[in-house]
Formats: sequence, C-alpha cells, structure tokens
Amino acid sequence: MLDGKFFANLLWGPTHSFPNTRKGPDTLPWEALTRCVLILGSPSSGKTRWMAKHTLDYAKAFPDRPIFILDVRGGLTKEVLRLVLLEPPAVREALTKRLRLDVLGHADYVLPTPEFSLDYGWEMEEQVERVAGNLEKLNPDLIEKNPTMGKIPIEEVGKNVFRVLGAIRDDIGENWQLTEAKRFVMEDPIRRWAVAKFGGFVPGAKWYFEEFFSQMSAPERHKRTSALISVLEVIETKFIRAKLGYSKPAWTPKQAIEQGQIVFVDGSGMANLVTARDYLFMQAYTLIKGEIDRRMADDPRNKHVILMLDEGLSMLKIPSMALEISDMPSQNRARRLQFYIALQELNQVSKELRPSLWTFGNIICFAMTNMDDAKVIAEQLFPYVPEKIKLPAKVDYQQPITEVHTGQNVLLANQIQNLRHRECIIRTLKNERDREDFLRWVPRTTEVPQDEANVWEFKEWLLKQHGVPIRQALKEISSRHPGGSKPTERPTT
Ligand SMILES: Nc1ncnc2c1ncn2[C@@H]1O[C@H](COP(=O)(O)OP(=O)(O)O)[C@@H](O)[C@H]1O
Ligand SMILES: [Mg+2]
Repeated sequence: MLDGKFFANLLWGPTHSFPNTRKGPDTLPWEALTRCVLILGSPSSGKTRWMAKHTLDYAKAFPDRPIFILDVRGGLTKEVLRLVLLEPPAVREALTKRLRLDVLGHADYVLPTPEFSLDYGWEMEEQVERVAGNLEKLNPDLIEKNPTMGKIPIEEVGKNVFRVLGAIRDDIGENWQLTEAKRFVMEDPIRRWAVAKFGGFVPGAKWYFEEFFSQMSAPERHKRTSALISVLEVIETKFIRAKLGYSKPAWTPKQAIEQGQIVFVDGSGMANLVTARDYLFMQAYTLIKGEIDRRMADDPRNKHVILMLDEGLSMLKIPSMALEISDMPSQNRARRLQFYIALQELNQVSKELRPSLWTFGNIICFAMTNMDDAKVIAEQLFPYVPEKIKLPAKVDYQQPITEVHTGQNVLLANQIQNLRHRECIIRTLKNERDREDFLRWVPRTTEVPQDEANVWEFKEWLLKQHGVPIRQALKEISSRHPGGSKPTERPTT
C-alpha cells in the first residue's frame, strides 16, 4: 500500500506504531528468566529458531547449568542440535558432553526412565504418589465421572500395587516396575509370593492385600481393578515397556542438574501413539518439576534450571494442570526454575490456564494470525492510550475524536496479525524484579546460520552413547518372575 508507512519504510527502514514500544534487541536479560517466558507465534513465524539460538547462547554462557526441553514435535531439538554441530570444534565438544537425547518411539534404542528407582534420589513413596497422580491427571473423565470405577482403582489398588513393586528385590537387588503391575494384579500366585516375601517393607500394602483384597469376591475385585488395568494398557508397546521397565534410569533430573546436562525429550517418533506419548511427557515433566518442588525456597545452593515446553504438549490442555502451572511465575524465583512455554495458538492451553499466561514476566510475540488471540494479546500487552488521536480537531474549539478502547485494541490486534516473518514484540524485565519501561519492537530476529548439518546421524550417535538397546532392556524385563530363578519360556503374546 502506498501509505505513509510505505514511505517511512523506504526512508528509515521498517517501523511500527505500537504504543509504549521502542526498537530493541531480541535477547532477554538472563536475570529475568526466573519470571517465566512465553513465546507466541503462528507456524513459521520464527519461534523455533529464536528459541534454539536463545538456548544455545544460554548453554554457552552457563556451562554448569541444566536445561530440560520437552519437545513433542521434535523441531526445537533438531534445531538446537544443528546449531551445536555448526559451532567450532572445542565449543561443540564441550556442549556434546552435556547432551542427553531421549527420543521417544525409536526402533532400536531407549533411554530408560523407570518409574520406581532410588536413583532419582526420592523416597519410593514419593514416586508412588507421583505415578498415581499422573494416571489420574491423564484420565480425568474416568476419575470425575465414576469414583468407584475410576478413582479407587488408582488411588487405592494402584498405590498399594506400586508400593509392593517398589519393595520387591530380584537377584541383582533391583525392584520391579510398572511393567509388572498388570501381572501382579491378575496373577494370584505372583501377588501372594510378592506380598509374603516383601510385604514386610510396606506393611500398609501387605495388610491391604492380605486382609482386604484377598477377601473380595471375584466380581468385586474385577470392579476395583479393571480401570487400573485399562489405564495401564498405555504402556504395552515394546518401546514403552523397555523405557519404563528397565531398572536403571539413563538420565535423572538430579544428575542432570548436578552435571549441567541438556536433556531433550523428543516426541516426534510417537506421533501415532498419542496417549502413550502423553504418558511419557507427563512422566518427564513430573520428574523434573518434582525435583524442583523438593528444593528449599531461597537456598543459595539451588542451581538455575531451564524447563522448556515447546508447542504441542497436550498436558497443558488438562484443566487440573492449570493450578500448578499458574503458580509458577510467583513461585519460581525462590526455587530458581526458569520455565518456558511456546504456543501457536492460545487454545493450546486449557481455559483455566490461559489467564495465568499474562503473569509471565517475559513475553515474545510473533505474528498471531488468529484474530481472537491477537485481540487478547493486544489487550494484555498494551495499555489503553486515550491520547492516541484518531481524528484531529478541525477547528480549535472542537475536541479531537479519540480512539475508544475497543477500537484501539482492534487496530493493535491487526498489527499483531500482520507482523512480518521474524518480526516480534517483546515484553521483558530489567532484572529479576522490575519490568522494562517500554515494550521492545524487534524488526527481525537475530540471524542464525543456515548451513546444513547431519543432525540425523548426530541423534543416532547420541542415542547409542547414552541409551540401551531395546532388545537388551526387554530381556531384562522378561526375566523378572517370582523367586528370581531362570526365566521359564513363556509364549510372547
Ligand atoms: N533467526 C533466523 N535466522 C535465519 N532464518 C530464520 C530465522 N528465523 C526463522 N528463519 C527461517 O524461517 C523458517 C521458520 O522459522 P521457525 O523458527 O521454524 O518458525 P516457527 O517455529 O515459528 O514455526 C525457518 O525454517 C528459517 O528458514
Ligand atoms: Mg516451530
């Protein structure tokens, strides 16, 4: 369009007309990160490249700090790894030592993360609570609509089953895992053996099975266990069995924090197994978040931890998750969690969570093509400026006509919809406490190198470095059986 903006662009380069906004860089002050970071933008607006560059700059600036990236679609993982490969050799090697790549659904390798392991540094009971909580969060319909059929099987039967699984010790001193839960519930001899031999370590669970569960009629027992069995169906694929069943974790949040590791959970290989993928992301999230929650507030020994949730995480749509996530911006400073959420559209999070997004201290907003979203964002980011004159007064005794609030908002929303590729608005802080006086307008995000790198090969190499062959993991799991003698050949179904 041949308007004023067109000529202004020709003379001074691109400009903008957002109120209270000045041209600025696309880097965030590191001290501001504990106030949470929200990245918004429609597909291919430049989010992933910005996040990858930001992550890499941060990783280089803080060699001892951990970064956790939960990346459902795998795009961010790929991009960070590409940038790592393009670094000079010394930097690349230092970064590579810190990388742990958990590729969900890989055909040959797995980074095991058993649910019940003392390697995480938690009490077994904390893991029992965490796993039961996750099963409940992932199956809200079951829990809310029918407490007897839904909540009891998980709260009562499930927790007691998990307690005994965690107490069992096999030949090599390892406990059993979630992969054995179904057999434990369904096969009476196994349960009797386990409870008799190891129940002493978990007296409450022992009592439950010996005095209560075993006295139930078959139909009653079925009623109490069928929902548990059905929610556990999610872990029946080979990959998940290997991941959850192998007894030694390949990475733990505790160790990652101590050693400043950069942990990626890449879900791109499980696009066709959505429920199972949701389970594994919930697991990773609760392991990491749980580790942070165990911290003492304001302990100077707490290391800063980045936890990034890239777009596509269905967990954010679960209403019951809203409560704990909405606390983050106010709670995080004391525990030094630097929490990031990236979204394509606001409806990628639950209605319950949406209002809390605006309490995030850092907001990077690229073009948002959805008009409703753009309006909400405009309203949240920009103050109403009544002086913004729409029509100047024609004669000096006439009042100028000002833009009313809704009108101003629509104009701003239009501008947000029409931000160019890689153009964005940033709201950030000067330090951990105070907002910057102005919003920043970034005409174009910092360039990242475009060179190709063999990310695929690098991923395979990383997996082999830190993972376990799936065959080996499954072999260990199938050798678990009462008594701990040689596995009997049983037909695999
Ligand atoms: N900072 C950048 N430097 C170079 N190219 C970029 C940059 N940001 C975006 N691009 C280009 O735009 C494309 C889309 O960007 P991307 O970050 O993947 O968008 P989104 O994550 O929002 O979908 C990239 O594949 C790349 O070609
Ligand atoms: Mg992207």
